[in-house]
Amino acid sequence: MQDKENTTFGPKSFPVNSDMGKIHGVFISTYGCQMNVNDSERMLALLEMANYVSVSSPEEADLIIINSCSVREKPVHKVHSEVGRYRVLKSKNPRLRIGVAGCVAQQEKGQLLKDIPLLDFILGTDAIDELPDIVGRLYENSDFSRANAKVVSARFEHQKPYHIQTLVRNPGVTAFVNITKGCDNFCTFCVVPFTRGRERSRPMAHLLADVHQMTARGIKEVTLLGQNVNSYKSDCGAHFAHLLQTLATQTNIERIRFTTSHPKDFNEELVDVIQNHRQKVVEYIHLPVQSGNSQVLQRMNRGYSRKEYIDKAHLILNKIPGVALSTDIIVGFPGETEEQFMETMSLLDEVPYENIYAFAYSPRPLTKAAKYTDAVDPQVQSDRLTRLLAKHREIAFKLAKQYEGQIVPVLVEEFHSDLSRVAGRSPQNKMVHFGGTQELIGKTVLVRIKEAFPLTLRGEQVHLGETLQ
Ligand code: SAH
Ligand code: SF4
Ligand code: F3S
Repeated sequence: MQDKENTTFGPKSFPVNSDMGKIHGVFISTYGCQMNVNDSERMLALLEMANYVSVSSPEEADLIIINSCSVREKPVHKVHSEVGRYRVLKSKNPRLRIGVAGCVAQQEKGQLLKDIPLLDFILGTDAIDELPDIVGRLYENSDFSRANAKVVSARFEHQKPYHIQTLVRNPGVTAFVNITKGCDNFCTFCVVPFTRGRERSRPMAHLLADVHQMTARGIKEVTLLGQNVNSYKSDCGAHFAHLLQTLATQTNIERIRFTTSHPKDFNEELVDVIQNHRQKVVEYIHLPVQSGNSQVLQRMNRGYSRKEYIDKAHLILNKIPGVALSTDIIVGFPGETEEQFMETMSLLDEVPYENIYAFAYSPRPLTKAAKYTDAVDPQVQSDRLTRLLAKHREIAFKLAKQYEGQIVPVLVEEFHSDLSRVAGRSPQNKMVHFGGTQELIGKTVLVRIKEAFPLTLRGEQVHLGETLQ
């Protein structure tokens, strides 16, 4: 299935700086999820076209951007304190401009400029492609020490179709590709629908074009990104399973990862596509459960019960042997009783998660749960978090041990010259370290696992001629 529309897309205009031609340094500090990591990469790619070069410390920069995250507590406070650290730099360098992008920028908009006078601009999550123009506007008067007009761009483009081109500056082994933006699920604890706006999918034809270009530039693995990749829907009608199948069969990409999957939209067709294309589609699924108790799940507006979740997880485990699962869990959601929490604990016995990301609930502005009046005591929250993590540590250790002696295909991403070692990931998303040379970067090699830890594995390359067992 293919989209019919034409595939000319991407950034159309480039900015004008009053001192265009000179190279300036930009420093971006990135918080939050892979979406933000990828947005920072996009900002850098756009700014490079406008004569900026990425620098590794704020001291070298003429432009500092804080790409913020608002998903948990005190995000505004974090922005305040980071900008505070740049006060001295600003007094030394009159050309320095500081902006906030990402989810805190979208949430607070112009209020942040009022609260933090050192800031020059606010860039909402839907306004990234405007960044070069905005930076140009910040330098409209040539006397850099004069107070310039400040800029706020934080409107959602609800009506515009989501047409972008993935921008990768220095292609490495792996790259992120946004397939959707926004979220329409409104889980009652979550700020993301307010900071990322309504859900929109990129046309499948654009994604195919992106991945073709990436493989031509040597990229071996893509990670498809969305808050809920399973609700992807192209304008040609293709949904996520079709997209995976199309990328697996019509491009030369060697590996496809994706995150995040929402349990309510994870169906058997998708499981079958993953199973049928497991040479390319990795055997690793991040399936956030949030709670093991059905009443809490209902209050969270997650759209599934404990049983429905467990049934789906078991379907995945049965149909894709060797698949690795991970999850997100919130403890101490308003009203969560000890008994309900114990159901989250016992879920770990039912679903073998290799990795969990667990957090204590914190109220977020604009969300429904922020109005719930039955908050759990912070001490109880932190006690539950400790117990959950301790329980999982043991499980993770045992699950990791099963890899010892196995031979796994590793796509090599890094070379550590000091140790004469390389590192790359297995299809189950484990980082695997083994002896090797720089030439292995970008290659998929078989590695026999000697020692397993919960997040990393150590092994040796299996050489041709050696008997595989
Ligand atoms: N779209 C993804 C999650 C994005 S937010 C999904 O649906 O799974 C990443 C994780 O942060 C969530 O899965 C949740 O576990 C956690 N989280 C979100 N809001 C939170 C809050 N108010 N308090 C604590 N953790 C939260
Ligand atoms: Fe947040 Fe729920 Fe959307 Fe995930 S699915 S981003 S948790 S509202
Ligand atoms: Fe944070 Fe926004 Fe991602 S709130 S987790 S940066 S979508």
